[in-house]
Amino acid sequence: MESLDRIRDEILRLIDGAATGVALDEARVAALGRSGQITELMKGLRALDPDARRQRGADLNSLKQEIETALAAAQGRIDAATLAGRLVNERLDMTLPVRTEIEGRIHPISQTIDEVVSIFGEMGFSVAEGPHIEDDFHNFTALNIPPEHPARQEQDTFYLQGTGGERKLLRTHTSPVQIRTMMAHKPPLRIIVPGRTFRSDHDATHSPMFHQVEGLMIDRAVHMGHLKGCLIEFCRAFFDIEHLPVRFRPSYFPFTEPSAEVDIGCSREGGGLKIGAGGDWLEILGSGMVHPKVLANCGLDPDTHQGFAFGMGIERIAMLKYGIPDLRTFYESDLRWLRHYGFAALDIPSLAGGLAR
Ligand code: PHE
Repeated sequence: MESLDRIRDEILRLIDGAATGVALDEARVAALGRSGQITELMKGLRALDPDARRQRGADLNSLKQEIETALAAAQGRIDAATLAGRLVNERLDMTLPVRTEIEGRIHPISQTIDEVVSIFGEMGFSVAEGPHIEDDFHNFTALNIPPEHPARQEQDTFYLQGTGGERKLLRTHTSPVQIRTMMAHKPPLRIIVPGRTFRSDHDATHSPMFHQVEGLMIDRAVHMGHLKGCLIEFCRAFFDIEHLPVRFRPSYFPFTEPSAEVDIGCSREGGGLKIGAGGDWLEILGSGMVHPKVLANCGLDPDTHQGFAFGMGIERIAMLKYGIPDLRTFYESDLRWLRHYGFAALDIPSLAGGLAR
């Protein structure tokens, strides 16, 4: 009968010598594979008489175990060496200069959100967020939007089925975050909510996915004067025009009363749009005093707490400020477009340092 010692030494030498996962696999197959050395020896047991078979079988089993232990140890050694090699070879030198031909640019949507956040940040607002997948209650009902309201119709809202079969939807505006904030936190509240919104709409000025910024301030004795002061200040800071004319035009939203749309002064003379000059007006956002029913829906007492809310389209104000003519180009991921309309990275907007350069 062949001595197991010689076979043992040979196999263990192969395993210990394996420097790569491939070499180790070869050693494994040579020993324990379908026609590996140990497997063949196991097959030979059948020809032995019972006593010899028992003895030889026990020897082979303990050898097999020894080989498996050696394989596992070798695998650990190879994994550690592979990792150490990668840590050395894949090191990133963060001090290398930027390769200008692939320099990243900040997308105008990100830039505009950063600008809006920095302006309201200076006024003491903090950023809040909410889910894109909403329910009827937060997107409509709590906001006092009646069941027959056209916004609820299939052609405007993307409806989904929740995991339990319940009806869900993609939020059609950022206003549900007003509800979530008022239900989760006690006033005083001062939040702005930048984020994605979704409506079943697609043409040159509408995209099924777009961005809004919502604003909400709730406290005791907040009134329309606060709303006006805050939004006039915002418009002038955002468009960087000190005496920009701002007009509040009576309007209607189910969740605010009174409601006002905010227009800024512009001129359309000679076909071009010029913001801040002339006798024309351009609508840029919706606003109003939070409706008493909405406050009550969120567990607030309208007799002690009031507030204002506003919402605006990010793409719209970005197009106006930066002269971007077509909404669809925002989402085409065209590098030439991004090089033209994008912003330098690390040039973070601030009121003190300049909003955009
Ligand atoms: N949610 C409104 C819209 O999407 C905007 C809005 C927000 C109006 C808050 C008033 C107050 O058109």
